[in-house]
Amino acid sequence: MEDKKVNETSQKHHMKGGDGPDSYACNSEYQKQVLISAEDLIRQQIDEHLNIQSPSFEPQYTFRIADFGCSTGPNTFYGVENIISAVKNKYKKSNQNQTPDFQVFFNDLIGNDFNTLFRNLPSNMIYLVACSPGSFYDRLFSRKSIHFAHCSTALHWLSKIPKEVIKRGINRGRIHYLGGEKEVKEAYAAQYEEDFGRFLNARADELVDGGLMALLMLGFADGDAFSLSGLRIKYEILQSCLEDIAELGKITKEKVDSFNLPLYFPSESELKALIEANGSFCIEKIAKLASPLRHKPDPKGSTLQTKAVLGMVFEEHFGNEVVEEVFRRLLDKLVESPVLFDNKYWKDTNYFVFLKRKGVN
Ligand SMILES: C[S@@+](CC[C@H](N)C(=O)[O-])C[C@H]1O[C@@H](n2cnc3c(N)ncnc32)[C@H](O)[C@@H]1O
Repeated sequence: MEDKKVNETSQKHHMKGGDGPDSYACNSEYQKQVLISAEDLIRQQIDEHLNIQSPSFEPQYTFRIADFGCSTGPNTFYGVENIISAVKNKYKKSNQNQTPDFQVFFNDLIGNDFNTLFRNLPSNMIYLVACSPGSFYDRLFSRKSIHFAHCSTALHWLSKIPKEVIKRGINRGRIHYLGGEKEVKEAYAAQYEEDFGRFLNARADELVDGGLMALLMLGFADGDAFSLSGLRIKYEILQSCLEDIAELGKITKEKVDSFNLPLYFPSESELKALIEANGSFCIEKIAKLASPLRHKPDPKGSTLQTKAVLGMVFEEHFGNEVVEEVFRRLLDKLVESPVLFDNKYWKDTNYFVFLKRKGVN
């Protein structure tokens, strides 16, 4: 049997750890805004679809929540506290005089800085805590043990660069599919299909019957992958930084050509089709999230945020010194030419997806 993990690059795609000025913890306001934009929707959906009469949800059992791709905090605490408060509310509204204990499993890749996460746990915590390191594309929990799965701004990370892109070098001159050739986009889409399918299969095993899942996903509207967008502009500027460094002879052109970002942004119709094909979940809601307004002209903030998220992927391929130079150059280019901050290029189409595990209850 092929060992999938050996071929996966995803184990290294974690965010910048610690809580220093260039850490993810200090540069994840955008991701926090995504959580805020979904807060009310999650509460409504829990109220509507959590069936506390079902045997899986009797209050004497511990209610287990898993946050997949939690990173180092503090956003993850914000997300799980909203879920717990909505679940408690549901029990109270139903005149249950008991609410369950809550246990939260924080999941991320093994390279994630879990020490920072645990150091920053809220002092007034209302739940028990556990950690489940590993790829969310694999099974992480025992069968029917999780009541609520949550995953915010993480599922656009592919488990690996599509094989076709590496083997045939079809994406030379670009570091991403956005704005590129159709066949490159198709190769990325196929990898996404495989990965998202694996995610759904693993969660289908782990969730109790009637278990709920909220996914907050970065996406694109159908057809938009080929148009000029803020993300595409950002990746093209990053690519030009790499080309400048190659011109200076500090890295080879081949090294730049073989670099691709393992990110995919699905459309609503792709998501729907993949969830339906999987068949284990009812789609209770898919909605576009209100766009978090992040695109103010702030070259330094934007550079720090991009570095906190993508820095490790660049470091893995090019080494630490090159990473520093790439992001120094990115900052200079954003100061010189603020095209990235023109709001007309930012049509973020982030999705809220709420699913219920099919089962007997
Ligand atoms: C942009 S961060 C979002 C973090 C957090 N959910 C938030 O809202 O701030 C994406 C996270 O997904 C994690 N991630 C990416 N691929 C993963 C995988 N295959 N399994 C588990 N975590 C993964 C990354 O390490 C990173 O911490």
